[in-house]
Amino acid sequence: MDLSQRLARAQALAEAAGEMIVAARRDHGFSTRMKAGQELVTDVDLAVDEAIRDGLDRDFPDEARLTEELAPDREAMQQSGPLWVVDPIDGTVNFAHGLAHVAVSIAWMEHGKAQLGVVHAPFLGQTFTAMRGQGAFLNGQRIRASRADRLASSLVATGFPYRRDSRAPLLRRLAAVLDRCRDVRRNGSAALDLCDVACGRLDAYYESVSPWDFAAGLLIAREAGASAGHLYPCPSGLHEELYGENLLVTAPAIHDALGELLRLADEDRYEPGQGD
Ligand code: IPD
Ligand code: CA
Ligand code: CA
Repeated sequence: MDLSQRLARAQALAEAAGEMIVAARRDHGFSTRMKAGQELVTDVDLAVDEAIRDGLDRDFPDEARLTEELAPDREAMQQSGPLWVVDPIDGTVNFAHGLAHVAVSIAWMEHGKAQLGVVHAPFLGQTFTAMRGQGAFLNGQRIRASRADRLASSLVATGFPYRRDSRAPLLRRLAAVLDRCRDVRRNGSAALDLCDVACGRLDAYYESVSPWDFAAGLLIAREAGASAGHLYPCPSGLHEELYGENLLVTAPAIHDALGELLRLADEDRYEPGQGD
């Protein structure tokens, strides 16, 4: 199967998953619980993960999977063979609260590099796709990252981990970004934040997330011309495109300036009031 046929299969699975998600909301047909103490999960997250697993099993029975609910085995992050990376619902809190920023995210990697990505947002009617080296698309139309070249006019998205004790250090970053940039968005889906950078609605995104949150969106953002990397070097032996700590994905012209600002904030060396 060539890459575009794989993409078509992945997109069909994501769209079928999207229909399940929309139906579950319409029918009020889901229950919620907490996993690992602080993280909300619904039975739709699980059902969608199962449906995608069954679809991948049918078409690609020998290929490994890294999926949030059924196979969150981080060992897979080091393997180099074919690997499917799936977030059945990115934006579970939004889903449970009736908000629209919800996505199904599917990437396929080889040698630790994303070859294709699909992010499908069923309530928004938006499907983002990319194949490596072939550009990025929203509902079949080519998309490009923004040309923002000043932090002062840049709209920046981020998110916060579920673990509350990990949130406090991020407030320094937030204060610096609010001081220097146009404003901040916390939309609740890392995959869609990356796609919004890809199509120039947002100028930048930074966060630490899991591989399933960003594998597809990162490829889409890169293929749209965004600059993507990490604030600090990726540990050796890990694949960068599966390593989600301190991601920074931006319009090309602001990448260095925003990286510098965030590192200054981490070191508690940012002096507020430096905005232009
Ligand atoms: C979450 C979303 C959110 C991000 C969190 C993720 P989930 O994924 O992507 O935007 O800030 O870190 O865990 O739990 O809804 O799949
Ligand atoms: Ca997620
Ligand atoms: Ca999820």
